[in-house]
Amino acid sequence: MNLRIFLDEELEKHRVIILPVMDVKESMRFLQFSGYRPAATILDPWYNRGIGGVRDDYFEYMLDIIDTVKYNTNHLFLWGFPEIAAQFINKINEPLEFVAWLTWFFKNCPSVIRGWRSSQQTCLHYAVQGAKMYPENFFNAEQELRFENNQMRFIPAPSSVIEESLLVGFVGKKEQTGHPAQKPEKVYEKLVLMSSAADDLIYDPMAGSGTTGAVCITHRRRCIISDISDEYIFLAEKRLGIKRLSENIIDEYRLEMAQEAECAVV
Ligand SMILES: C[S@@+](CC[C@H](N)C(=O)[O-])C[C@H]1O[C@@H](n2cnc3c(N)ncnc32)[C@H](O)[C@@H]1O
Repeated sequence: MNLRIFLDEELEKHRVIILPVMDVKESMRFLQFSGYRPAATILDPWYNRGIGGVRDDYFEYMLDIIDTVKYNTNHLFLWGFPEIAAQFINKINEPLEFVAWLTWFFKNCPSVIRGWRSSQQTCLHYAVQGAKMYPENFFNAEQELRFENNQMRFIPAPSSVIEESLLVGFVGKKEQTGHPAQKPEKVYEKLVLMSSAADDLIYDPMAGSGTTGAVCITHRRRCIISDISDEYIFLAEKRLGIKRLSENIIDEYRLEMAQEAECAVV
């Protein structure tokens, strides 16, 4: 079986491929092995506080992951709490360049800590030089018409602050899957629309409940997602109505990937 043809057919059929349980780095190797270069990669790891625990080597761990992905994507979106994202800002470099500090702002965090109530998360946007951005994807009907008729002197850009309520309690009840760190589709929609055109490939190797997949289905992008947790992949399968690829398919290529890696070392 030709892997690329098979995966292309799956994407044609479902728009989204859910890989079997996989660590982020194996998932990236698989993507590269299959010959895909995504328009955008979304990295939404645990945040090194609260759920997911704390790692002493978090910074090095994430930089290592970014080093693996940075040669194989046009855009990269990295999520985190502001104080953690701030540590990355000048550490992610060639071939990527810093594009924007995006803030997801929400007013409805139920936290009752004695201090500031958390109301934002950060998403760092990086891209390779010349990577296309698509502000026109945010036009309303009137703007589209003016744009088509060359009547627009300036292209209005979407805001780098994305205001959207946290999915909690009754807010976004229909969208909620039970994943403890699920992002609203309206937030991810902005990343996907800014960085891709219809049919482009979006990649999310720490996909949790599959928010990226849901947005890609709505906006007619193609999408490959994976996660290290069987429980969360199950949530994504249920949400998207798509089954993960079978382990057998992946095992065949795990062997080939291992042989390729061995040859590279020798
Ligand atoms: C913040 S959540 C992502 C939430 C997702 N954006 C959503 O909207 O549902 C982080 C995810 O990263 C996954 N994860 C953590 N470490 C991983 C690793 N080494 N490889 C792949 N996935 C990992 C977790 O299982 C978790 O689902």
